[in-house]
Amino acid sequence: MTIETRSLSDSEIRSVASLIDRPLVLVGMMGVGKSTIGRKLAHLLGLPFRDADDEIEKAAQLSVAEIFERFGEEHFRDGERRVIARLLDGGPSVIATGGGAFVQPDTRALIHAKGIAVWLDSDVATLVERVGRKDSRPLLRGGDPKEIVARLKAERESAYAEAPIKVMSDAGPHGEAVNRILQAIAAWL
Ligand code: S3P
Repeated sequence: MTIETRSLSDSEIRSVASLIDRPLVLVGMMGVGKSTIGRKLAHLLGLPFRDADDEIEKAAQLSVAEIFERFGEEHFRDGERRVIARLLDGGPSVIATGGGAFVQPDTRALIHAKGIAVWLDSDVATLVERVGRKDSRPLLRGGDPKEIVARLKAERESAYAEAPIKVMSDAGPHGEAVNRILQAIAAWL
């Protein structure tokens, strides 16, 4: 569902927070702002924030780029699924996932079973502008970022669309997306 922006009052936020009994799992393309938005959302709701990619890096003692380089994407996806399974068992929280996580059928099934998936979406131009700020994403190396982002978005959209909640995170401030998420969760719960 897509909803217009409105700021929730503190008491509305508290009442949404009191209803959340599972992790909120942010899914969607790289560059959409899952980590930044997730951190703000968790703070407002008084929930812990977990970044799945950071947890994978901690567990492996390697960066995501190094895991791809040394062991390949399949190995990364395996570790990603195990880390997300652990985070999903940790009680209510906000979890930001890497862009490919919800596209993997097993990981998606785990998220459906134990969390509430929120798809953050943006247009390709906004994603490309945002991913251009960092050079840490292995899937963008060795190609034209605009072409790769557009292709991955088209390939992945049907998986992301399985999330029960969809929120646009366009070029505006991330605070607006946070408000939209709160409102969408309030309407959905
Ligand atoms: C990936 C996105 C990255 C990271 C890895 C693979 C993807 O996370 O998990 O580079 O497949 O889209 P972000 O979405 O946080 O950039």
